[in-house]
This record gives sequence, C-alpha cells and structure tokens, in this order.
Amino acid sequence: MVTRYDNCDLSGRNTFRMKVKCALFVEVTAEEDLPVLDWDALPQPVLVMGGGSNLLFTKDFPGTVLHMAICHSERSEESRSEESVTCGAGVVFDDFCAWAASEGLWGPENLSLIPGEVGASAVQNIGAYGVEAKDIISGIRAWDRQEACFVDIDPADCAYGYRTSKFKTEWKGRFVITAVTYRLSRTPQPRLDYGGVREALEESGKVPVPGTCPPPDMGRGRGLFPKGMGGAGTERSEVEFPGTGTLSLAPGDIRDAIIGIRQAKLPAVEELGSAGSFFCNPVVSREHFERIVATAREDNGPDYQVPHYEVGDGIKVPAAWMIEQCGFKGARNGGAQVYQNQPLVIVNASGTASPQDIIGLENQVIQAIAQKYGITLHPEVEHV
Ligand code: EPU
Repeated sequence: MVTRYDNCDLSGRNTFRMKVKCALFVEVTAEEDLPVLDWDALPQPVLVMGGGSNLLFTKDFPGTVLHMAICHSERSEESRSEESVTCGAGVVFDDFCAWAASEGLWGPENLSLIPGEVGASAVQNIGAYGVEAKDIISGIRAWDRQEACFVDIDPADCAYGYRTSKFKTEWKGRFVITAVTYRLSRTPQPRLDYGGVREALEESGKVPVPGTCPPPDMGRGRGLFPKGMGGAGTERSEVEFPGTGTLSLAPGDIRDAIIGIRQAKLPAVEELGSAGSFFCNPVVSREHFERIVATAREDNGPDYQVPHYEVGDGIKVPAAWMIEQCGFKGARNGGAQVYQNQPLVIVNASGTASPQDIIGLENQVIQAIAQKYGITLHPEVEHV
C-alpha cells in the first residue's frame, strides 16, 4: 500500500525533532509498491528514510521523503548451528535484536538498543561494542531504480567500512533496500572485549544458572517474528571472569548488559532529541598521535594516557575524549547542547532547537578540535 502526505511535517519522523517539512511524504508497506511508483512524477530529490535516527534536516526538504514501512520477517534454518532471518526494511532493528536474544540466537546482541530500522543497518553499517552490522548481514534485497528491477546484493560487494558502504557513496540514490537477511548462530560467540562490556556483565552481579535466563522484553516486535523451529535451543557460553569466576552467558545476558551501558551514557531519543553519535571517530597517523599525546600531557600532566585504539591504517582517537578535553561537555548554543554523559552526542536540549543551533554548535566543536589537535572531525549524522 502506498500512502501519500503533501507538505508533511517531519518533526515526529526525525529523532532530532527538527521542525521541518517535506513537499511529499510517501510510505510504502510492500515491495510490490516500488515498481508501480511513478518515480518521475515525485517531487525531486527523493530521500529514502528509515527511522530518521541518523539525519539532521537543515531546512525544509523540497522533494519526496520515502519511508519503507515494509515489516515482515521470515526465518529459515541453514544448519543445526545457523539460522537466517530476513526482515523487511521497516522492521525496528532493536525488535530484531530482542527477538534474536529471546530465541537464544547469537549475533546481534551487542547491537542492542541502536535506534533505527533494518534498511538503515545495511546502508550505514551500524555498529557498537565491537560488532558491526556487516558481521551478520548475509544478503540484501533492493529495488534498483537505474535498471527498474529487484536485485539480491551480496554484502561482499558493498564495500563495508566504519559507518559506510557503497549505498552511501557510488550507489547513492540507486538502490532502495526492501529487506535484509541476517545470519545468526546457535553456537555461542560472545564478544566482550570492547571497553566496559565485561565489567558491566560482572557488575550486574547476575550469575545466571543455565537454562533460567529470562527472555528479554520483545518490545514493539512482539508477534512480528516467528517463534522457534525446534533447533538445538540456547547454547550458553562459559566465560571466565577473574574477579567473579565462571559466568554462564546467553545472548540475552549480553543484550541486558549493553542496554545498561547505553542507557547510562546515551540519551533516550523518546525523551531528548538527538541522532546518536554526531561525529565519526577520526583515525590519525602514529606521528600525529604523538603530537596529540604531547598536547594532552601539557594539559593533564606528564603521565596522562590518551585513550586510543590501534586500527589497520593508524590510531583511532575517540572524538568524545577530544570534545571533553576542549571543555564542551554540556556546552550550549541556543537550544542545542553537547550531551553531558557522552559528548559525542549533540542533543536538542530545549526541544525547540533549530537546525542552525545544532550546526552552530557542530562548527564550534569542529573549530576547537582542529585548533587544538589539528584534526578535522567529520559528522556521522547525515545533513539533509
Ligand atoms: N570518552 C571520554 N569522555 C566521555 C565519553 C567517552 O573521554 O565523556 C572516551 C573514553 O576514552 C571512551 C571512549 O571515548 O573509552 C569511547 O567512548 P564510547 O565507548 O562511548 O564510544 P564512542 O567511540 O564515543 C562509538 C560509537 C557509538 C557506540 C559506541 C560503543 C561512533 C561514531 N560511535 O562511540 O555509536 O555506541 O562506540 O560501541 O563510532 C552511534 O553511532 O550513534 C553510536 C552511539
């Protein structure tokens, strides 16, 4: 079904709560709606939108916003240890995560509570706590606007990288994702090495007894996903914690820990408008990193340790740390504010912040960091 709204208010459809309009808002609920859509007759340009959780509307949008509200899910058993689940592009990504955990399936638990929908997970390669969407995506179905046909895209061809893919670069505007297939495992594969995950599990004080882990809340996804297919059931992972002993972990335990970390650090988009991390974490050369260390030690003393991660082509320095060092925690510009608990996030603190308030604060942060550390931060949030 295709639903159209002219001159549509988008403030309830972007998590930053920007009060902007688009010329036309179109919602489709089935893949079959796409070939019959008269694309040339739509106000241009056409912007395909998921949950609106990674966008900053900088002004009224002159074209068409197309929301893929395709919300089905199918499950298929690949082997005794693997399963595939295909979700429509409009399925809320965290509903899928909740369902996987409740079924004892391993794969997306570290990605719990990321706002947004399934389609965006494949465009943006969403990631958190050491896992990225590309690690579990096994197939993508899309409408090819150029060739006017449906295609099945191999994720190996998508050039996935840190929060990027060909859907954001050379394929921009060409494919409309209708469904994503995720590969899930019954065999335990806990990923606990990202800072804070082990500690959160240990601190939760929950030492689950095998077989008694309560299923997580299924949230809005209740009923959307087919229940068990009589597989091998939840396999727990026995993980050694130096202070606590052995914990027997199910995917739901890791999901709960991740939700706890996120809720402590990140604003709930229902309460405070934001688009999650506003900037990408930059990667610098070793020489550049040494200069950052020297600056940090001038500011904080000779033994100060700069947080960083070695990555393939350099050293990743958390933008949150630089923003904090530049004194921006809690800084305001009109209704916009750098979030106190996680300064990588800019929030619509007043609820009525304008795009200019957000962009003004963005520019202040970029300038201060360029001046102090010689790094140009790039926004992670797409500006429209
Ligand atoms: N840090 C500070 N001060 C702070 C907060 C953080 O110095 O107030 C430093 C700490 O050293 C900390 C480091 O920054 O160890 C990293 O912080 P965090 O673990 O919160 O992660 P991040 O790099 O700031 C990224 C993602 C988040 C994701 C987390 C966890 C990006 C742009 N952001 O943030 O993703 O949840 O890692 O994996 O890569 C999102 O994309 O919207 C998002 C929230």
